[in-house]
Amino acid sequence: MRFVLDCDTGSDDAIAILAGVGHPGLEPAAVTTVNGNVALEHVTDNTLRALDLAGAGVPVYAGAARPLIRPDLPIPRDVLNKDSAFQQHGLGLPEAVSAVREGHAVPFLVDFFMDAANADATLVATGPLTNIALALALEPRLAERIPRLVLMGGAHGNGNVTAAAEFNFWADPEAAEAVLSTGLPEVVIVPLDATHSAPLTGPDCDELEQLGTPAAAAAAALIRHRLEHDQASPSHEPSTPVHDPMCLAYLVRPDLFTATVRAHVSVETAGARTLGQLLVDTRPWRPEPANATVALQASGTVYRAFLREALGS
Ligand code: BDR
Ligand code: CA
Repeated sequence: MRFVLDCDTGSDDAIAILAGVGHPGLEPAAVTTVNGNVALEHVTDNTLRALDLAGAGVPVYAGAARPLIRPDLPIPRDVLNKDSAFQQHGLGLPEAVSAVREGHAVPFLVDFFMDAANADATLVATGPLTNIALALALEPRLAERIPRLVLMGGAHGNGNVTAAAEFNFWADPEAAEAVLSTGLPEVVIVPLDATHSAPLTGPDCDELEQLGTPAAAAAAALIRHRLEHDQASPSHEPSTPVHDPMCLAYLVRPDLFTATVRAHVSVETAGARTLGQLLVDTRPWRPEPANATVALQASGTVYRAFLREALGS
């Protein structure tokens, strides 16, 4: 399965990269980077480090360095992450030896998906949707040419940055709303509801380490860091959601999601307390037709099997 990954690496994006390169059923065509978990220069550096570790000669294009309209995240990153050791520069991975390609990610995405030879490729997004919103604005015909968008973002229940909003949608709510309202033929949303339903644990890290590959060892170390620093990990039961690789798992294991709903989805761009909230309208009498499939629950068994297969070879 060929795919382009648009990401904001980020520890779980890095695991998605390692898994996307390693899984025998997945073929990364390119990776594009976007401002998100960390500033763009660090996102791109983290991305190159993960790809180098995986031994992949996958082209990387750097994209948007700030949100579509806003000068920074709704709460500037320096304030948001002030007392947190969760985000890392370099991710504890060896320095990159490969280099980012010349040219911006947005025209790359346009050219790639306008090319009929790539009509079989899925676009996977695991960061804020800034690059994809910009690409759709630059070339509106892209709306018919991206066959499938699988993205991590949003929450039907509680968010993680605020009670209402998940980070990727909150970080660039205008971009998320622009992309979801475009009318892409197939959109699959992997929100927190799904990722939190199949968290990973210390014993999962032990199992990954036993696989004996550099990719599995790196993924285990990244998950252990999340276990130590993720606020979503309650101390009495150390487990942590590892969000982004689920998008890639779904490409080869569509049985990953054990509950999904077709709905009209949109993103709040104005609410004082609800900025970035994903609205999942399942009302039978809703005025607008369904424009996405939303995953509500995932199988931990399928997810672990995917990670073992992807990271063990
Ligand atoms: C999402 O936000 C980022 O912090 C993670 O990489 C993931 O894509 C989870 O809310
Ligand atoms: Ca991410």
